[in-house]
Amino acid sequence: MARFLITSALPYINGIKHLGNLAGSMLPADVHARFRRLQGHEVLFLCATDEHGTPAELAAAEAGQDVRAYCDEQHLIQRAAGEGFRLSFDHFGRSSNPQNHALTQHFGERLEAAGLIEERVSKQVYSIDDGRFLPDRYVEGTCPHCAFERARGDQCDNCGRLLDPTDLKNPRSKISGSTNVEVRDTAHLFLKQPLMQDRIRAWVDAATEWPHLARSIAYKWLDEGLIDRAITRDLAWGVKVTKDGAVRPGFENKVYYVWFDAPIEYIAAGAEWAEATGSDWERWWRTDKGASDVTYIEFMGKDNVAFHTVSFPVTIMGSGEPWKLVDRLKAFNWVTWYGGKFSTSEKRGIFMDQALELLPSDYWRWYLMANAPESSDAAFTLEQFQQTVNADLANVFGNFVNRITRFCAAKFDSAVPTGGVAGDLEAKLAADVAARVAALTQHHEEMEFRKAAAELRALWAAGNEYLQVAAPWTAFKTDPAYAAVGVRTGLNLVALFAVLAQPFIPDAAGRVLDVLAVPADRRGWPAPATAALLDLLPQGHPIAPPDVLFAKIEDADVAAWTERFGGG
Ligand code: MF3
Ligand code: ZN
Repeated sequence: MARFLITSALPYINGIKHLGNLAGSMLPADVHARFRRLQGHEVLFLCATDEHGTPAELAAAEAGQDVRAYCDEQHLIQRAAGEGFRLSFDHFGRSSNPQNHALTQHFGERLEAAGLIEERVSKQVYSIDDGRFLPDRYVEGTCPHCAFERARGDQCDNCGRLLDPTDLKNPRSKISGSTNVEVRDTAHLFLKQPLMQDRIRAWVDAATEWPHLARSIAYKWLDEGLIDRAITRDLAWGVKVTKDGAVRPGFENKVYYVWFDAPIEYIAAGAEWAEATGSDWERWWRTDKGASDVTYIEFMGKDNVAFHTVSFPVTIMGSGEPWKLVDRLKAFNWVTWYGGKFSTSEKRGIFMDQALELLPSDYWRWYLMANAPESSDAAFTLEQFQQTVNADLANVFGNFVNRITRFCAAKFDSAVPTGGVAGDLEAKLAADVAARVAALTQHHEEMEFRKAAAELRALWAAGNEYLQVAAPWTAFKTDPAYAAVGVRTGLNLVALFAVLAQPFIPDAAGRVLDVLAVPADRRGWPAPATAALLDLLPQGHPIAPPDVLFAKIEDADVAAWTERFGGG
């Protein structure tokens, strides 16, 4: 029994997320959380909406709503979508909650006490036509590094470099499009990251358990050299900047930068969870309060890696307090919509709420994880979705379950057959299954989701092959004792397959386990070496065939969805 703290990158509040966002952090985090719970470990799985910053203010204005009311509403929408996808968060919090305000201010003050903060007058882009300072990502211009013409003030989407908006050539306001902008003086707090550079590098050097993508991105930033980063912004909505517990003089109209407070919400979500459930959150987050034996795993898209490997660690290490640091960081590439970007404005792609209108969550969960964007970007296409679902879920898993449970109902009185002696074929199957369960377990432990899905599919296929050869339907006429063995083995395979499928397709797996009446204490993740892998169901145990597990996706469905969502 170990303890796993698992977080998913916090979805931004401005609208429901598309399937690409889901596949790149929340869903794999959920699959892993479920896997670890099934192994019997103690898991705390946290997520929240990331609610501060300019995009929230602007989205609220566009919706004609007060920003707080807007966030209240959007939070509930995202929470419902998460529930619809069966994301098993222990808590789904909000970065605008008081716990995060308090902790963010605490970190700000600790960093200042540690000599890592400097108040500095700096230059900032002011839009005369908009009558305001422009937050970084609302300045657009030409990237000074790669000459990309639509670089954002905070980051260039073409070369990936972090930018300062005043670096941009030909800057313009993204709010109004106006080029009537000028650089003005304004005071901000700067986090002196270079002072932490050596400590961060030593920590990354020691982080040999991080998957490759995360480490290589971290080194890219470290090699370029850390810079002083402004951690405050000229905005009304956000965490107020304090000094000695009161609003910091001169910062009345400023708040902390959203990327400063958002990751702190990982911790604050723990505090929210503790308050809601009467639990102790510090034993998960403070190494002086018991968290040193916790394994902390973060899930995120690749654009978030720098913030999690450099900026956030600077905040928590710089505080000088014993906070838990990430142990393993799993980063994802993009899911694309037919090779292009998902786009809300152009109505390209499918969003979480829409997906659930079309099909139950398991269909999407399976496809997105079987094609997880791990070593490269992965294109979502409706055709491939149809093909994967029909082949893996309907033909292989669903058919297997149906065939054997129906045969058992028809010929063996809906009970696991008794009698008969297993032979060589069953021994070979058992060895094959044991090896595959071991591989599947390892893939899950290493958070290799594609490989895990492929191994599970291979197990299902091995089950089908076994039934093909054992053919209890034929044996039934000539050798009923062997037919009993075949059906018993088949039913046990069904139970095992469902146990193993729980992290990926929890609803369908749960339904199968229910109709097989598998008791709760047999639904846990099997230790691969056990001889009892194919012994989950005792002889004589009553079972019932489930209703159709997975309906095939028809060509007509694909045509209709392509029409609605604009395919490739
Ligand atoms: N909302 C951010 C995004 O969509 C992710 C925030 S993750 C956290 O890219 F670390 F800040 F919490
Ligand atoms: Zn660039």
